[in-house]
Amino acid sequence: MQKEMQVKHRELKKGFFVVLEGIDGSGKTTQAKRLVKRLTEKGFNAVFFKEPSAGPWGRRLKEKARHQDGLTPEQEFELFQKDREENVELNIKPALKKKMIVVLDRYYFSTMAYQGAKGIDIKEIKDRNDKTAVPPDMVIILDVSAGTGLNRIKERKKRDRLFEREDYLRKVRKIFKSFSGENIVHLDGRERRESLYIKIEKMVMDRITELLAPSV
Ligand code: TYD
Repeated sequence: MQKEMQVKHRELKKGFFVVLEGIDGSGKTTQAKRLVKRLTEKGFNAVFFKEPSAGPWGRRLKEKARHQDGLTPEQEFELFQKDREENVELNIKPALKKKMIVVLDRYYFSTMAYQGAKGIDIKEIKDRNDKTAVPPDMVIILDVSAGTGLNRIKERKKRDRLFEREDYLRKVRKIFKSFSGENIVHLDGRERRESLYIKIEKMVMDRITELLAPSV
């Protein structure tokens, strides 16, 4: 009789919050989803969220982008903020409270980069989020050029074009590249998907093994 493989459940002493960032077409969504899948297979309690979220503010943003009806940068900033504040309260905080690993596809670094590139004061965006958002334990920024990012997403159908012009994405990328801090890591998004993933998983595993609760 074949013995069933039992995956040991791995409990953390507290939640861990990792954010994937980068311009459109940087590959962050693929890597974030893969991370959640692999961590779950390893026995961790991991969950994937994204921004803009599927909540009412996020849906409104998507709707506006699709119809290209001009939101001012200020209105855009306001909508992304409202969406985030809701995502933090409804999704992120409860999951971290349950000691889960939260993998988030875009966070306020996207607001700083995308709305910053449209002229909103980056410091103002940062200050507002310092007050309302949960600080992440790790931020991984995947860097690709605007041209590479755009080429990759061209293959996808049904794109909303509002956020994806090359000159704009160049500015967005420049802001992403300017971020630094203890918990912020920049990786080359041109690297092959597989080897990039291995790096990401290793970095996350190094941090979460420190948080492993003693098994009973
Ligand atoms: P994205 O998650 O890339 O949507 P999809 O998965 O459908 O491709 O987000 C849509 C766009 O929103 C993207 O171009 C980046 C932009 N964005 C901002 O401008 N500011 C923000 O704060 C966030 C979270 C996203």
